[in-house]
Amino acid sequence: MTSQLEALIDEAKTSGTLTNLPSQMFIDGAWVDGVSGQSMETCDPGTGQAFAEFAAAGAGDVAAAIDSSTAAFRLWSRVTPAERSSILLRGASMIRENCALLSVVESMDSGKSVAEAQGDIAACARLMEYYAGAADKLQGETIPLGPNYLSYTQLEPVGVTAHIIPWNYPSSTMIRGIAPALAAGCTAIVKPAETTPLTALLFADILHRAGLPKGVCNVVTGLGREVGAPLVAHSGVHHVTFTGSVATGVNVMKAAAENVNSVTLELGGKCPVVVLADCDIDAAVEGTLWAIFSNAGQICSAGSRLVIERSLHAQFMEKLVTKAQAITVGHGLYNPDMGAINSKQHLAKVAGFVEDAKSRSVSVATGGSATVDPRTGAGWFFQPTIFDNVAATDPVVQEEIFGPVLAVQIADSVEQAVDLANDTPFGLAAGIYTRDISKAHAIARDLDVGQIYVNEYYAGGVEVPFGGNKLSGIGREKGLAGLTAYSKIKAVTTRL
Ligand code: NAI
Ligand code: MG
Repeated sequence: MTSQLEALIDEAKTSGTLTNLPSQMFIDGAWVDGVSGQSMETCDPGTGQAFAEFAAAGAGDVAAAIDSSTAAFRLWSRVTPAERSSILLRGASMIRENCALLSVVESMDSGKSVAEAQGDIAACARLMEYYAGAADKLQGETIPLGPNYLSYTQLEPVGVTAHIIPWNYPSSTMIRGIAPALAAGCTAIVKPAETTPLTALLFADILHRAGLPKGVCNVVTGLGREVGAPLVAHSGVHHVTFTGSVATGVNVMKAAAENVNSVTLELGGKCPVVVLADCDIDAAVEGTLWAIFSNAGQICSAGSRLVIERSLHAQFMEKLVTKAQAITVGHGLYNPDMGAINSKQHLAKVAGFVEDAKSRSVSVATGGSATVDPRTGAGWFFQPTIFDNVAATDPVVQEEIFGPVLAVQIADSVEQAVDLANDTPFGLAAGIYTRDISKAHAIARDLDVGQIYVNEYYAGGVEVPFGGNKLSGIGREKGLAGLTAYSKIKAVTTRL
């Protein structure tokens, strides 16, 4: 551990907060108060206590951010791609330099462990580097119309883009949206979630200091209905990138439709981990465990269903339950295996799903209750929980719980495993564990999801496109596919 990280963790443990946390918004290259002057508190889910205040913005602040981003777009869209690239690269290295601060703030604001937050911040730096490298490669094409015409296309930035960020991955969700947007020459207005506003503000300041001109990345904070809704409905916005719930995503899409704006929607999931009897059992157990219990299950692509062949079921469950029971739960600053649930409200939602399932007599293999930080007796936590042999129609199979709750489904054949895996309204991701690579690719072909992990759940990186089918969303982020939302094609054809 670096001495800087150690010092920040010590300060946070001792005082319950950190000095110099941002409390204003970052608009037009400066820290500003909201128009109303009102503020809100953000909590540390590991203690359940508020530890910082931030501006509660409204439509007036959105208007100021739009004005700033509109003016900045005129400049930024004309900066050479090579110069955009080098600014993004400087941003990447400054993110790495500030990794300790960003990780500790992210851990306190979201409830995840510092180690998980460090992984998120490293991914942010990689995203910046990846899209920095793409900025000067957004090329058009020439169209062969014969000797009498010259026809070519250009990729132009779409304009001002709005980014609505959830609380489960505040940093990496923000950067995976704004890095390609900025690389393509767009400007970005970011609305972080109301329970995790702090790292977005730090990022905007860091990128500005890395050379990003004022107004190219603005951050407005506050409630979804007070700030998010006017932002996505604003006629000065040209594309909306949203990650969050299906219900809010539908509202965002309707608001964008009023301005005939494009949207990228990354919504919920109920992702299956399909485990065949011929798999490497220990690798599959370990993979299944962290597919659901990473980030306390608060991941849209969490492997929240295990679909397993009957012949392996009993042996697999014994190993899985033993490992689940060994998971340590606690405050993120102490680097437990599993951190907190992000808010009291969300903890109640997770607990509600589990209580309902218990009242239907769904079999609990382990866990099943809310809990507390064993060190302090405080905070918002939920035990690693596994429901065994659940019916395909049960709500814990069909609905996104977004917590550390795994539903196990038993299949009598590979065909039935595929049918069970596909049988939810979602289509985000899926895992497959088998030693038979031909079976793996046949299953991959038949699953209606946006990304598939064979023999390692969450395999991949910033280079691999990510997004969902069915209710899980529209469009793809990460990889080169993540750039397409931020450019529009202009075709120019001349009679010679
Ligand atoms: P939400 O979808 O309401 O919130 C996500 C973001 O949207 C937040 O920044 C929020 O302020 C903003 N927002 C809310 N209403 C808005 C509106 N009308 N216009 C524009 N922006 C708006 O999700 P919430 O309430 O935080 O969580 C509810 C459920 O959503 C969770 O239980 C989970 O199932 C799912 N979820 C999925 C995520 C994913 O990664 N796909 C991330 C977070 C939540
Ligand atoms: Mg918080």
